[in-house]
Amino acid sequence: MNRITSAAEYKKTYKASVDNPEKFWATQAKTFKWKKKWKKVLDWDFRKPDVKWFVGGKLNITENCLDRHLKKRGDQTALIWEPNDPSRPYKSYTYKALHKEVCKFANALKKNGIKKGDRICFYMPMVPELAIGVLACARIGAIHSVVFAGFSATALADRIKDATCKMVICSDYNSRGAKNIPVKKVVDEALKKGCKSVKTVIVHENTGDKVTMKRGRDKWWHNVTKDQKGNCKPTVMDSEDELFILYTSGSTGKPKGVVHTCGGYMVYTSYSFKNVFAYEDNDVYWCTADIGWITGHSYIIYGPLLSGATTIMSEGVPTYPDAGRFWHICEKHKVNQFYTAPTAIRALMAQGDHWPSHYDLSNLKVLGTVGEPINEEAWQWYNKFIGKGKCPIVDTWWQTETGGIMISPIPNALKTKPCYATHPLPGIQPCLVTPEGKEIKKKKAEGLLCIKYPWPSMIRTTYGDHERCRQVYFSAFDNMYFTGDGARRDSDGSYRIIGRVDDVINVSGHRIGTAEVENAINEHDNIIESAVVGYPHAIKGQGIYAYVITDGKVKDKAKFKKELDAVVRKFIGPIAKPDKVQLVSGLPKTRSGKIMRRILRKIASGDTKNLGDISTLLNPDVVKEVIKGKV
Ligand code: WT7
Repeated sequence: MNRITSAAEYKKTYKASVDNPEKFWATQAKTFKWKKKWKKVLDWDFRKPDVKWFVGGKLNITENCLDRHLKKRGDQTALIWEPNDPSRPYKSYTYKALHKEVCKFANALKKNGIKKGDRICFYMPMVPELAIGVLACARIGAIHSVVFAGFSATALADRIKDATCKMVICSDYNSRGAKNIPVKKVVDEALKKGCKSVKTVIVHENTGDKVTMKRGRDKWWHNVTKDQKGNCKPTVMDSEDELFILYTSGSTGKPKGVVHTCGGYMVYTSYSFKNVFAYEDNDVYWCTADIGWITGHSYIIYGPLLSGATTIMSEGVPTYPDAGRFWHICEKHKVNQFYTAPTAIRALMAQGDHWPSHYDLSNLKVLGTVGEPINEEAWQWYNKFIGKGKCPIVDTWWQTETGGIMISPIPNALKTKPCYATHPLPGIQPCLVTPEGKEIKKKKAEGLLCIKYPWPSMIRTTYGDHERCRQVYFSAFDNMYFTGDGARRDSDGSYRIIGRVDDVINVSGHRIGTAEVENAINEHDNIIESAVVGYPHAIKGQGIYAYVITDGKVKDKAKFKKELDAVVRKFIGPIAKPDKVQLVSGLPKTRSGKIMRRILRKIASGDTKNLGDISTLLNPDVVKEVIKGKV
């Protein structure tokens, strides 16, 4: 697989990938092990949407992640696990050992009745068993649906029901910083909410603290794997068989299950991993994301393992036991590529410049960021204090739906520029369009970011509701994938992502739908109506601002705020708690009764001068009140 190492090579490769995409991707795909070669590289129709890559090809992604490497690098470390508590020993698995563990668990799944096409939900902290479990599913063709362990029992139950999962795999507890979070208890609670499809729960013993096991349903991980063989024949999968479902928030309704398939996802995650991180043999790569999000799927597990890399997964948080934890891990494992979120950088920056100086960071070669726009100050700090001015910073723009990194600098080939994700990777054809759907041809422009040609790791459908997939991503603009982001393009073709143009808030790199938060808040007895918007937040990027109309019976505001936190916690999870709550007597609405979020967003951001024409509102007077009561 080619890795781009110069500007000239990027230019040439990009051109080739656009002139003849099928030839380009066929060349990349050939480096993998296929059980049967594809008949056709690409079949597509964005209007349906119907996208198929490597049509008729047969493969198993884990054979490419594991078996393919055994001969050359069987004894090389594949996975390093760093525990939450630095005084506990870390674990590492060679490719041989990881292969064996994956096979054992795959056999255990089969023994417990799991077959190709069954959906399995993971609700686990960042322990090696999560990576092993996910790969074991892929080994036998079961579809994994990982749910971030910070979601509530209600949110978990919604996702289990939507995918009709047959099994849930969890841990007893989650050690996170100084906390010990009861994971199994949340699963028990979720399963009481009508998850009839679940037959078995497999519980991994993490902390060893007490849990209740339900007879006939719950089994220990160590018991089900005990007598299993360390070999399991990989199930032959079609290129377009489903590999996994991952739920993500949108502007309306419940979260949707983004579906990714085997062949294209394999080719693209590996190609993008090697290029964006300039990964070379024997490098040690660390991505701090959680496997509950797409970043963990594509760039902790699949991309690195497909590329024969050494990948680190860490259980803890950036500030436990202190703000030097990340840099301690970088020193300890001689990390070469480090990939994190802007919110983490800002949080650590706020703790003082001295923390990184206590550690040897000289092995670092490439630094990455993902999840939200990185502000210039954080970029400069990352560059100076972590990269010591010698590590290119790859600001990678992509989404759950894109499966892999779409726009990013390529080290030593494309210049980095603070706040810019810069240029598209080979094979990616972004464009800017006007709200009316006209492509803007002029280089220097601002518009809505779309992609006008398929790429191998793109979303195929939203689980159980294909029409929703069409509606959300392919109906806004004809024959294009709409990202939901706005972007600016410079005269050199470099892209700067501005952020979401829909009702999605990006809190610490977590995507949260305003409608979901409103629905949760509306469950509180005293709430008549609510409107939730994002506003700039120094550490989180965006904070959640909730405007609420109550029934007038709220006496103690502080207590009321706590109660709202609790309902949001109950229906979504702590990540969606509002940062600010303002009680209002009305919400600005159009004459047809639509809430004018644009105005609320401006007020929440403190930008009250440019509210535009408010005279056409149904209730212009309420605007004054809302401004006056800003918290
Ligand atoms: C949204 C996707 C992709 C993994 C993590 C988030 C925002 C993502 C960047 C970036 C500016 C970014 C976009 C995008 N986003 N990366 N480098 N610069 N914004 O995945 O939860 O699917 O969220 O995150 O708004 O649409 P996700």
